[in-house]
Amino acid sequence: MQIFNNWDVIAKGWYIACASGTLSIAQAKSVQVCGQQLVVFRGEDGQVRALDAYCPHLGTDLGIGHVDGTWIRCVFHQWAFDASGECQHIPCQAEIPAAAKVQAYKTEEKYGFIWVYPDIEAPEGVAEFEELQGMAIVSQSDTAFERRCHHHICMMNGIDAQHLKTIHHLDIQMQLSLNQSASGTQMDFTMQGNLPQTTWQERLGQRLLGSTYEYSMLYANGCMGLLTMMKNVRLFPPLHMIFAYTPIAPGRTRIQPIYVTQKRQGSWGWLVSQFLLICTRLAYYRLRDEDGRIYDNIQFDPKNLLSIDAPLAHYRNYVNRLEPSRWSQAVKTATPDRSHIETRK
Ligand code: FES
Ligand SMILES: [Fe+2]
Repeated sequence: MQIFNNWDVIAKGWYIACASGTLSIAQAKSVQVCGQQLVVFRGEDGQVRALDAYCPHLGTDLGIGHVDGTWIRCVFHQWAFDASGECQHIPCQAEIPAAAKVQAYKTEEKYGFIWVYPDIEAPEGVAEFEELQGMAIVSQSDTAFERRCHHHICMMNGIDAQHLKTIHHLDIQMQLSLNQSASGTQMDFTMQGNLPQTTWQERLGQRLLGSTYEYSMLYANGCMGLLTMMKNVRLFPPLHMIFAYTPIAPGRTRIQPIYVTQKRQGSWGWLVSQFLLICTRLAYYRLRDEDGRIYDNIQFDPKNLLSIDAPLAHYRNYVNRLEPSRWSQAVKTATPDRSHIETRK
């Protein structure tokens, strides 16, 4: 089955349901993720759970129900469901029908968001940066926006070596190295090259940063891109940011940018972390809008891939080997939920 650029298939992976701060203790809400209506709720123990939204009794949206301990209770006839989706209590009778259950999903809170995996268990957690593993981190989200193309297409921007020069005017000859995780769910592209010395700004940059430049893009489940800029340069630690992609409806993808850095101790450490988050944001802003009109109008149809386009071919093969999830085709019939989206002009 072709997964790449196929709106009918949602690959297994972690997708954003909502920001962590928008779901307080004992609160429930109905959200649409990849075209699937879910209830996410935070139990009185602080843990977040996610289930299919519609009650298996008469179909009421559980998102308008209320949290009862670690259960969600339907507002209509008060059936209560636990984290595994099993009905645990029906007020009007003791016996619980075998079919009184809904699909449950694995959740994780990370980078300031609630993420949902389209199955009850996930083989891996939400992806992390190798350089930050085991460290306390601080993250900042930016405004989510839409692109009018499949996320598999706009994700390729990070590894399109030709366009660095033609669109972003970065004249760097890049050498590619790539590495796929044993599970096949992650692929890491690292690009390295010599910094140019044509203009005075480039020469100054080389004095400060050193002669080589390196960046990497780690793709997770074909729906998250973890970008690390300024790798192995002098003076600066690496800058990290995440692009989290969610298909909304055919032809429409939501992109959530998140800036990430190590959490440093003390007020000086706090200042350094904030400074690096701002640097990451500014580097991203410089690149972002230059690509937008291309991806909003593309009819992706690769007829002539050059050797410099090899990363794109590797990426497409990697995506096609991912696993389809139970949410496949749900996106086809989705009514777009625009509650937390801003369309970029
Ligand atoms: S519709 Fe949910 S309990 Fe009846
Ligand atoms: Fe770009």
